[in-house]
Amino acid sequence: MGQPNCQTTPGSKLALYDKYRLSYPTQAIHRLLPSLSIADGEVCILELGAGTGKLTEDLAAWSPKFRIIALEPHGQMRDFLAQKRLQNVTVMDGLAQHIPLPGESVDCVLAAQTRFASVQSLSEICRVLKPRGSLGLIWNVEDYNSPRSFQVQTKWEEQLRKFIWALDDGQPRLKSEMWQSAFDSSVAKQLFRLPLNLETWRLS
Ligand SMILES: C[S@@+](CC[C@H](N)C(=O)[O-])C[C@H]1O[C@@H](n2cnc3c(N)ncnc32)[C@H](O)[C@@H]1O
Repeated sequence: MGQPNCQTTPGSKLALYDKYRLSYPTQAIHRLLPSLSIADGEVCILELGAGTGKLTEDLAAWSPKFRIIALEPHGQMRDFLAQKRLQNVTVMDGLAQHIPLPGESVDCVLAAQTRFASVQSLSEICRVLKPRGSLGLIWNVEDYNSPRSFQVQTKWEEQLRKFIWALDDGQPRLKSEMWQSAFDSSVAKQLFRLPLNLETWRLS
């Protein structure tokens, strides 16, 4: 992957996307940040694929001590996020595979709804992380868009999930569980302290 994969999102739809796309539950953010040992500190956080800033808003609101670099390759999404003028947030162009930051410059890398897990991205993430830095990934999905291994609550969501699977484009979304395979590589095993610490919440 060398290019952003939602390059065709029309700019006029971004306000609707930003308003109605699922955000991240407070419980999940309260679990995620302490688990990465960054909840209380003066830390520099790199957010990859920040989009219109759904997670960025949570991070900026969490602590005035956070310095957040929001990387987003899609120009219109980036502009939309920049116009929010979030506190302590710098919005930048860039891809997970080529992060435009010096080595050992951030304390934590975060990505929400990511589809770009690859050995190249993981190597870049490790390059920019300071020693003992951390990587956090978060997704929020409805049952009908979930991995096949997840329990679906209703018949109609089961049907809709089958239909969505029939249209799958092979990108390493959460539902394909392919994103995890990058961590199975020998390179990732050298770069990260594994196994991954995985947690799933169900909200009704
Ligand atoms: C599903 S959206 C999620 C956006 C945001 N993180 C959120 O939770 O609302 C995925 C984002 O990743 C960006 N993206 C796609 N490919 C990328 C890559 N190779 N490196 C960095 N970002 C990428 C897209 O432009 C898009 O904004």
